[in-house]
Amino acid sequence: MLVTGPNGAGKTNLLESLHVGTQGFSPRTRTEAQLLRFDTDTGRIALRGTRGPTPVEIAVALAAGDAKRATLNGATLKASEQLRNEVATLVFTPDRLAIVKGGPAVRRAYFDRAYGRLFPARATLSAEYAAAVGQRNAALRRVGAGYSSREALSPWTQQVAELGAALVEARLQTLALLAPGFADRADELGLPGARLEYEGEVPTVEALFARLDRDLERGATGIGPHLHDVQLLSQSRDLRSFGSQGEQRLTVLALLLAEADLIADRRGYPPLLLLDDVLSELDPARRRTLAERVAARGQTLITSTTAAALPVEPSQLLEVTPGEVTTA
Ligand SMILES: Nc1ncnc2c1ncn2[C@@H]1O[C@H](COP(=O)(O)OP(=O)(O)O)[C@@H](O)[C@H]1O
Ligand SMILES: [Mg+2]
Repeated sequence: MLVTGPNGAGKTNLLESLHVGTQGFSPRTRTEAQLLRFDTDTGRIALRGTRGPTPVEIAVALAAGDAKRATLNGATLKASEQLRNEVATLVFTPDRLAIVKGGPAVRRAYFDRAYGRLFPARATLSAEYAAAVGQRNAALRRVGAGYSSREALSPWTQQVAELGAALVEARLQTLALLAPGFADRADELGLPGARLEYEGEVPTVEALFARLDRDLERGATGIGPHLHDVQLLSQSRDLRSFGSQGEQRLTVLALLLAEADLIADRRGYPPLLLLDDVLSELDPARRRTLAERVAARGQTLITSTTAAALPVEPSQLLEVTPGEVTTA
């Protein structure tokens, strides 16, 4: 489905509301007030669709200063974020280029969330590890200041090692699952030999002890997956430093399409794909490849300022003007 309209018409708003309505949170902001129309203090998103063959009806109610409330087929969910276990949505926005261009923290966060989407039951692992590192760092500073003994660090060191190993394992598993699809989709889009390479070692108790003096000096844990990175490569070229804008865009798209296929396999229904401003910087051949690829599976919304930017006929064309969406 193609969503067109001039700049500022509300295309991104429409996509964002679909994300909030299917996942329970915005891909752009955690500030709930930003989701409400200026000068109003309530809002509502109502969606009707299908998940595989099953009809789905969702309503999300927003109110200033209050948690969102969501219902799925009439049943109230404990938290709107639970929607993400029920409905799959993947989103591309130009901000997402930071996965390739940005620092290691962006990539860590991205792959940890991808892990959470693939293994919802273990989605809290990276937060648990971060909490353990936080606790150990606080303990390091207490020892450094002479308030507590080195022995007091042991339980935290143990936890960082255990959760750290689990997190590295989870990331490696995620990369292994994504890698074949990523390489195939990237290749189709004209980015040959695309690879994902994990950079970092499991933080063992021994390794943590070996650098205890340095950690005490800095008051921070100096090894572990909170410092790791994932290299994105095309053949031997690091796309972070040497990819063009267009290639970086293709990299993010290939990751997204690879994950979409995994989700479809694992959950039995394809995710909703929301592709905001995805066509700019792509040449016509790549636009066509992308359009044909997404047409072959679930539902996809692509936004563009001009209908002509999409070289294939969309199944539906929506025109957005401020405050209104019409079927062309
Ligand atoms: N909370 C809000 N309430 C009302 N209008 C908003 C709000 N947030 C942004 N806008 C307006 O929406 C427009 C941006 O819409 P957007 O969906 O980003 O446009 P585009 O079609 O270019 O993607 C801007 O004019 C902006 O001022
Ligand atoms: Mg926009």
